[in-house]
Amino acid sequence: MKILVINGPNLNLLGKREENIYGSKTLAEINASISEYAKNNNAEAYFFQSNIEGEIVSKIGESRKEYDGIIINPAAYSHYSIAILDAIRAISIPVIEVHLSNIYKREDYREKSVTAKGSVGVIAGLGHYGYILALDFLLKGSK
Ligand code: DQA
Repeated sequence: MKILVINGPNLNLLGKREENIYGSKTLAEINASISEYAKNNNAEAYFFQSNIEGEIVSKIGESRKEYDGIIINPAAYSHYSIAILDAIRAISIPVIEVHLSNIYKREDYREKSVTAKGSVGVIAGLGHYGYILALDFLLKGSK
């Protein structure tokens, strides 16, 4: 199984950015633990991070023939990007949305995720462990 993990804007700053909310691990450290978990389960994880909405849209569109599932943290784009929602809806592979923080107990403008309307499910508030749970679902739970 090949799984693509997409992270949106400012997630390249993890480890330095609002550590009290997003934790102290860097994106490279999180990705390494996802890779290891995938390998231990006979799967491969691939990674893409961009601060640019259009790049994320293009990557999702290109992914449909290459991967068996996508884990995406669209970051701030979650709250307003219909372009990313449409891209998710345009592909047939399962997409799981992950948020490090619990978006429901933060500012009102974070409560709504428009991109989540295209996903199979959402994991929020469990920190970097959310990516592993999403991967586990794609590897085992979706069967
Ligand atoms: C986030 C939550 C978003 O509201 C925020 O804009 C982010 C990260 C999270 O992982 O908790 O950048 O998606």
